[in-house]
Parts: sequence; C-alpha cells; structure tokens
Amino acid sequence: MEKVLVVKSIDELRAKLKEYNGKTVGLVPTMGYLHKGHASLVEKAREENDIVVVSVFVNPIQFGPNEDLETYPRDLDRDIEIVSSSGGDIVFAPSVEEMYPEKAEVFVDLESEIGEKLCGESRPGHFRGVMTVVSKLFNIVGADRAYFGQKDAQQVTIIEKMVRELNFPVKIVRCPILRESDGLAMSSRNVYLSAQERSEATVLYKSILRVQREFESGEHRVEKLKEIALEEIGKSPIAEVEYVEILDSRTLGNIERVNGPALMAMAVRFGKTRLIDNCLLEV
Ligand code: PAJ
Repeated sequence: MEKVLVVKSIDELRAKLKEYNGKTVGLVPTMGYLHKGHASLVEKAREENDIVVVSVFVNPIQFGPNEDLETYPRDLDRDIEIVSSSGGDIVFAPSVEEMYPEKAEVFVDLESEIGEKLCGESRPGHFRGVMTVVSKLFNIVGADRAYFGQKDAQQVTIIEKMVRELNFPVKIVRCPILRESDGLAMSSRNVYLSAQERSEATVLYKSILRVQREFESGEHRVEKLKEIALEEIGKSPIAEVEYVEILDSRTLGNIERVNGPALMAMAVRFGKTRLIDNCLLEV
C-alpha cells in the first residue's frame, strides 16, 4: 500500500499541488465514511490522472436543520486506508473552520427545473450547499477531472450544468452505482439501518429490476411504471416513500411516456434512514 498524504489546510494543499506542476490531477469529492462505491471513483481517477486527491468533508451547508449532520458517520483513519488501497495520493480533510472561516454568505445556486424536482423538493437548500462546496473544492484543487457517482444522479446532473454555465476548467466523469451483493446501493448511510430495515431495504433494487423488466417488455407509460415500482416497494411494510419519479434524464422534466433517455429516481425512508436509488431507462 502506498503512503497517502493527509492534508488539512488549503494553503498546504495548494503548495503541494504546485510541486506537481504539469501533472494531471483527479479529484474525488466525498463526505467520508468511505465504501466500495467511493473506492470505485478513486480507482477510476487513478487510471486517468497522475495525482489523485480525495476530499473528505462533511459539508454543513448542504444539510437541512432536521437532517443528520450531527450523526453523519465519520472515521478518517479508515478513510485514509481505503484511499490508500484504491490508489489515491492525497486525502484533503479540512475542518469546518478551514472551509468556512467566516459565516457563509456567498453561494452558488441554480434556478432550474433540474434543481427543483426530486431531492431539490424534499431537501430545500441542499443543492445550493453542494454546488457551493464543490465550487470551493474545484477552486482549491484546480483538478483536470472530477469524479461523481450516478448514485446521486441529480447531483451529478447539476454539477455538470454548473461546470458548463460557469466555465469551470474541469471534466466531470460520471461513474456507475456500486451495489451490495443483494442489490442495495452502497451508501455511508446504510450503517444507520437496523437488521430488519437493512433486509427490507432490498425492495428498492427489486423495484428497479421489475420496472426495467416491464420496460423492456414494452411498458413505456410513466404512470404505469411508477405504479409497478410503488407496488414492489410497498411489499416492505416499513418503507415510507418520499418520491418515486420517472423524468427526462437530461432536463429532469416531467414526461408521460419514455421515448428518450429517462431517469427513474426514488427516495424512501426505512425508520429514520432516508435512502436514494435510481436507474436509467433507455429505448
Ligand atoms: P458522498 O455521499 O460521500 O458521495 C461522494 C461521491 O461518491 C458522490 O459522487 C456519490 O455519488 C458517490 N457514491 C456514493 N455511493 C456510491 C455508490 N454506491 N456507487 C458509486 N458512487 C457512489 O455526494 C456527496 O458525498 C457530497 O454531496 C459531495 C459531492 C462530496 C459534496 O459535499
């Protein structure tokens, strides 16, 4: 295992990256408590860049007042090991004071359907917090490429739009969803689940598989496909659906039939834990 450099200050990171002048830099932004999904992003970055920076920062401004900022799982030592075994070079793990030395009053935000649907509706201010911290990370690291998971499909769509519209000189690389062997999408939040919740959470992937099957056999009506997903999720008596939507995957606009690339996205609570998952439906 290679030795990973752990950097906590912005100045130190900038100084270090200056030494690598001329080399390509890949950035993997994370909130830590890394799992194999994150590791797959680091591995992809390793293949494509000379230097791989993984940021580990639980960004307070993307959490709502009643969300899990305080309890969000953290284990930096374990994260450093995972970064090391996935081929990362630098872990950037700033404190909240380092990232927000003064009260945050400047934000990056969007006015677009892309930000209003799905998690934009249920988590007001969330994407503003994400776009702001990701902009800061882009400015701090100056990466050539940045890696994001399809797991957070709306997030990566918004970041791509931000990069296009604000001319950030970085290429966004989308990476596929990594799943546990029973299909549950890997997430740092899965540790919150009790044994019963963990076992019932598999209805999400089952609903995705069923919708994909029905879609492939010719059912393209959105209402019908949503019904099928809801029926499958409803097989868990404890699943509380926040949303199940099928939208145009590029604009996240409403559609009645799947005629072009579409995104089926869902947010479902099991007890106190909110899980998201999604899949693409393409004709
Ligand atoms: P976090 O939830 O830690 O996720 C970091 C990155 O890992 C995101 O791009 C996410 O889509 C990706 N990821 C998570 N689970 C995955 C899985 N099962 N398979 C593939 N990729 C997966 O997303 C955030 O942090 C934050 O919002 C952040 C972008 C870091 C800004 O604070």
